[in-house]
Amino acid sequence: MASYFIEGGKRLVGDIKISGSKNAALGIIAASMVLDGPCTIDNVPLISDVDVLLNICRKLGATIKQSGEGSITIDPTTVTTYESTHEMTRSIRASYYLLGALLSRFQKAKLTMPGGCDFGTRPINLHIQGFRSMGAKDELKNGIITLDATAEYHSGHLYMDQASVGATINVMIAATKAPGTTVIENAAREPHIVDVANFLNIMGASIKGAGTDTIRIKGVDRIPGNQHYSIIPDQIEAGTYMIAGAVTRGNIVVRNVIPKHMEPLSMKMKSMGIQIEEGDDWIRVSVGSNDVIKATNFKTMPYPGFPTDLQPQALILLCVAEGIGKMHEAVWANRFQYIEELKRMNADVTIAGPIAIVNGPQQLTSARVPARDLRAGAAMVLAALIAEGTTEITSVRTIERGYQDFVAKLQKVGAAITVGEDSEMLERE
Ligand code: EPZ
Repeated sequence: MASYFIEGGKRLVGDIKISGSKNAALGIIAASMVLDGPCTIDNVPLISDVDVLLNICRKLGATIKQSGEGSITIDPTTVTTYESTHEMTRSIRASYYLLGALLSRFQKAKLTMPGGCDFGTRPINLHIQGFRSMGAKDELKNGIITLDATAEYHSGHLYMDQASVGATINVMIAATKAPGTTVIENAAREPHIVDVANFLNIMGASIKGAGTDTIRIKGVDRIPGNQHYSIIPDQIEAGTYMIAGAVTRGNIVVRNVIPKHMEPLSMKMKSMGIQIEEGDDWIRVSVGSNDVIKATNFKTMPYPGFPTDLQPQALILLCVAEGIGKMHEAVWANRFQYIEELKRMNADVTIAGPIAIVNGPQQLTSARVPARDLRAGAAMVLAALIAEGTTEITSVRTIERGYQDFVAKLQKVGAAITVGEDSEMLERE
């Protein structure tokens, strides 16, 4: 098992190129399984979650080739089965998008219940509700979900009491070939949902309203594909490095971003007194030597609210800010577990139900802490960048699920970070 070793106290200065969006890539790769021809996808992030989903699609029979840095060709016409029940399917949550894709292709799907980050129960009742509205019969037995719409498969109507990203994408994919027009109301509006819809439309589907709270999908007989598509930059990766620049009082430019997608973070950072400068496809984050970073209150919400996937990282920002800051996690039931590890780094955080209260500024100190999940792991790296001493972060494969070239990108802007063997493993040897 590998660990990161990070010596705190270095200001980060320089440019970081942002990779393609993990959550757009996962939705688009799964959606490609409905096509009736091949497609080429560019700006695919080289991360393990994408590798796993590509291998799951290969096991379905799809022909997939890496064609250069971050570019893949997928031919789903060789897909022969609607079943994906092996262990690999469980290892990432996004495999559940194959329910919608296989339902659209075969009107049947059989999949292992998804896994993914563990921060509270992660139900899929809204996904199932959407499939049922399209005529599918569903059964959940021994951790396997089976959908069957061979008797009747038609357009449906899903009103979501909670704007679920996954259910929005899954039902959108499932409806691409369902006769009639499917309507999703109170749909989630994340940039990666729009990216999946744009991909499907370029390939020949007929989806309107993605990015608004009502999406209409007109079922078509064939989705020819035979087109190129380039994935949008990763909003959460960009936000993570923007926060890294701020907490180290550095000067970081994130390149290859869409500033509009970063507004939920950049507006908050400006309100905290952090200097933000924007260009067409870049954002500069800097903190002057006399600048005071002021505490503020965050509340995570579906887009265009503040993204829950930046919640752990933004809490580190509150640790360096002057005053009492609050983080209200309003999307996930249990996404504060990482704070226990932060407290071992001398963080003073009080948790009151869904709200974490931080009395800053605080001087964190090094410790040996695990990366509990993808974004919490990234937050531990941010904490280590400002902690006194050298921090060891273990189980870093979790972080590499969603951050391409994480260590190299941080080293390039001056972070003292190296990769090594987990120190406890070394002691045992
Ligand atoms: C996606 O998860 C992302 N994962 C998550 O990012 C992200 O945290 C989340 O959206 C919210 O933005 C991928 O895109 C692969 P949801 P998803 O359905 O789709 C409840 C990361 O770090 N809900 O929007 O699973 C649910 O319990 C990962 O990249 C239901 O009640 O999230 C939660 O409280 C971590 N029933 C809320 O909705 C359902 O059927 C939001 O969940 C579905 C969801």
